[in-house]
Amino acid sequence: MLGLPIMPDSASTLSGSVDTLFLVLVLLALLFAVPVAGLIIYFAVKYRRGAAVNRSNAPIENFKLEVTWMVIPLILSMGVFGWGARLYFDMFTTPKDGMDIYVLGRQWMWEFKYPTGQRELNVLHVPVGRNVRLTLISEDVIHSFYVPAFRIKHDVLPGRYTTAWFQATKPGTYHLFCAEYCGTEHSGMLGSVIVLEQKDYQAWLDQNRMNTGGVIAENTSPGTQTAVTAPTQTMAQAGAQTFQHLGCYVCHRPDGKGAGPSLVGVYGKPVQLANQQVVLADTNYIRDSIIDPNAQIVADYPPIMPTYAEQISEDDLLKLVEYIKSLGSGTEAPPEMINPTGGMPQPGGSSGNQGSGAQDSGAQGSTNGDSGGSDSSGNGNSGTQGSGGQ
Ligand code: CUA
Repeated sequence: MLGLPIMPDSASTLSGSVDTLFLVLVLLALLFAVPVAGLIIYFAVKYRRGAAVNRSNAPIENFKLEVTWMVIPLILSMGVFGWGARLYFDMFTTPKDGMDIYVLGRQWMWEFKYPTGQRELNVLHVPVGRNVRLTLISEDVIHSFYVPAFRIKHDVLPGRYTTAWFQATKPGTYHLFCAEYCGTEHSGMLGSVIVLEQKDYQAWLDQNRMNTGGVIAENTSPGTQTAVTAPTQTMAQAGAQTFQHLGCYVCHRPDGKGAGPSLVGVYGKPVQLANQQVVLADTNYIRDSIIDPNAQIVADYPPIMPTYAEQISEDDLLKLVEYIKSLGSGTEAPPEMINPTGGMPQPGGSSGNQGSGAQDSGAQGSTNGDSGGSDSSGNGNSGTQGSGGQ
């Protein structure tokens, strides 16, 4: 067909089910549209003006027929609704295990940040067969993260984290589009997702691991500029520095005796608010608490925190989120004693410490195993950080 594929590649665990549902919807539409169109034409010809046909006793009502054409479509549409809803929940329920990647959208590029510190522009490297959890946010207007081959499309909003996930099933390079008109260069806000075999991904990580220095520039296709920045610290380490720099540690003491609540072990836990509500300390809660601290006051603490909206970038916010995540409940290290430039971790670190924390860090801990290398050095590092202060 002129070399134009009708469907994009099918390369994620969800794409098969999406395609099946889509196919069934198309077939159902044809099932109804074709007979209706066919009968219109048939009757138009048969009962055309001047045709010699019997026009007497035209039926006015037929109870059985009417019930039939209500009940059958009702069953079909409810079936499609249930099926679609099921699939929707599968797509929007982020799996507990998997690797986290942060996505920043801005006019007009995509930036990907690995908790281990690597940073990429417009190109995302992921391993095959692993759940990848994306936390997305925009620095300006609404963008939309669209990878047709994975059948995922998620709006990327300013001021609020959204999450998406996928598991790639076959290695390759796949298109990434921005699917929300976001300004003059919207159509150029392109990228690609490169799915690598486990060992190739490991090699890629090793090549871009901690302290290899500088920016490794890479041009994959014309018009797509991309670069991988080898990290000098993990996001949590960078977050620890921001935490110090902004003076957060003055009030948020780990023993809870400061002017603000302790942040140790907060992530992923319910928080009792002064207004009797209980909220979950997820990424959006952490972000909102920094930007608009007085919207949700933690019980037993005075509403004295100023907003940091003017002083902090989305980038720093993500680092703080990672840092607070890294303060799993098992780690009692005072934040102000953390060594933010902690260097290379000891093998194994004390990631167990971290892993025993919130659900999420537990999951992170478990991802360590199969990706090893940089991945575990990241977590190991935060583990080391924790024990460093004890
Ligand atoms: Cu970003 Cu369109």
